[in-house]
Amino acid sequence: MDKKYIIANWKMNGDRHLIQQYHDFFSQHTLNHHVVICPPFSFLEQIKHQNYHVGAQDCHFEKSGAYTGSISPTILKGLGTKYVILGHCERRSQYSETNELVYKKAAAALDADIIPIFCIGETLQAKENGQTAAFIEKQLQESIPKTQKKMIIAYEPVWAIGTGKVPTPEYIQNVHALIYKLYPKHPILYGGSVNKQNCQAILNIENVNGVLVGGASLDISFFETLMHMPKNNE
Ligand code: PGA
Repeated sequence: MDKKYIIANWKMNGDRHLIQQYHDFFSQHTLNHHVVICPPFSFLEQIKHQNYHVGAQDCHFEKSGAYTGSISPTILKGLGTKYVILGHCERRSQYSETNELVYKKAAAALDADIIPIFCIGETLQAKENGQTAAFIEKQLQESIPKTQKKMIIAYEPVWAIGTGKVPTPEYIQNVHALIYKLYPKHPILYGGSVNKQNCQAILNIENVNGVLVGGASLDISFFETLMHMPKNNE
């Protein structure tokens, strides 16, 4: 297997104990992948380790100012954060984030030299109405700035997040092909109920350059499984 992106999204979870487990594991093992850990803001400094990069789960579009509870790309950069997840469907649904807002945040992140990880994906309703392609194309066009800078796109069908439901390999392959046609230069990841059991099969799908892992990343044994995946089997 070639080098993939393995991005852990802890969401609003984690504690000192989990940080210690990550440090213990990654002090003993180096994975032959690009690993990025995205904990809650408060752990961004503590979680650091030489064997992976660190990412935030969101940022504001301004550099500084009267924005209580928010964090700017400039502050994130100062903390040594290399990536930021933007437009996650939980932010879109719980905080009414729009494509336009995601675009502004992305422009600010890129300006601060932070690599955006764009989350895009159709709702159950769009899927059932046969509108997956149109839904995704609109999100891509409206939320991603035109730039040559490095960016990552994570395809995360809303109906697959935290539900244990995973699209068929053909379904994932078709959507990734569509995204690849529009953005051939950017890594395209899959996210949504990735776990120890299905990770390898998903990573073997054409044009899947990595995975964005939520719930399963809260158990360090997820990374042990990655250690045991056969190499060069593509
Ligand atoms: P999940 O979350 O792996 O728990 O489904 C993925 C995500 O929200 O990025």
